Amino acid sequence: MESGKVTRIVVIGTGFVGSSYAYALVNQGLGNELILVDINQKKAEGDAMDLNHAVPFGAPMRIWAGDYADCKDADLVVITAGANQRPGETRLDLAGRNAQIFRSIVDQVMESGFNGLFLVATNPVDVLSYATWKFSGLPARRVIGSGTILDTARLRHLLSGAYRVNPQNVHAYIIGEHGDTELPVWSHASIGVRPISEYLKQGIGPSREELDQIFVKVRDAAYHIIERKGATYYAIAMGLARLTRAILNDENSVLTVSTLLSGEYGLEDIYIGVPAVVNRSGVREVVDLNLTEEERKKLHHSAEVLTRVLKNIL
Ligand code: LAC
Repeated sequence: MESGKVTRIVVIGTGFVGSSYAYALVNQGLGNELILVDINQKKAEGDAMDLNHAVPFGAPMRIWAGDYADCKDADLVVITAGANQRPGETRLDLAGRNAQIFRSIVDQVMESGFNGLFLVATNPVDVLSYATWKFSGLPARRVIGSGTILDTARLRHLLSGAYRVNPQNVHAYIIGEHGDTELPVWSHASIGVRPISEYLKQGIGPSREELDQIFVKVRDAAYHIIERKGATYYAIAMGLARLTRAILNDENSVLTVSTLLSGEYGLEDIYIGVPAVVNRSGVREVVDLNLTEEERKKLHHSAEVLTRVLKNIL
């Protein structure tokens, strides 16, 4: 998208995640045109009306309930539509149902003449990001999944409490499937510029076991939230807004998104959560960390699980 032109974002799916993301865009003044598309047209219209009434409190933005034809001139199409996890369901359990929904969504978007970037949030996000890439025929760099951006935020939140520092000063990643096989990259985690390994050596802050417990809380967070309130949406919406800001502002920010690997980490032909540089053209490059043997093994296991699911649905 050239600078100075009108930036158009289309959100497909105005359920909890889609409408929370739309609200985050209005609240942060991201984009000039926001179009809401949902199978439930009345819901999309209601959200558009409600959000338009919020605009006078923020930056100017044109918002309406539209349809797939509006994707033609869109810079960003963000897909949040699909079935959600029910209590006790894993994200991967949704693969078959949501892949069918995605085939229809992506075909209709591409029929409009869309030539921008896709952001995918629907679960299982790694599988559906790969499917969107295949169905759309767009270059992989322009199909980005939210990946483990939320898991990384959850880890930073818990580590900030454990070390009593601002989450902005916690540098730690979750990589792999956005799901049960994800893993923390402790070998590259630091508080400020001080590696966590140094804290461990000096016995300062959480012990190794306590760090492992923190990771389990991150990995299982969604289950506990879904059990209590039925769905998760605020944090993922903010993660999508963060990704949107990195794209719109051409930031070259490093974020743990779901992107296609072509040899990095010894993996290829798979979408999976890894740190990547994100800018206006999409994923500029993957940050190929030098993982420990154990971390690499876990990442490959995660990739194998995702590949098995992909083979069943594509
Ligand atoms: C979660 C959903 C977005 O982790 O998968 O909350």
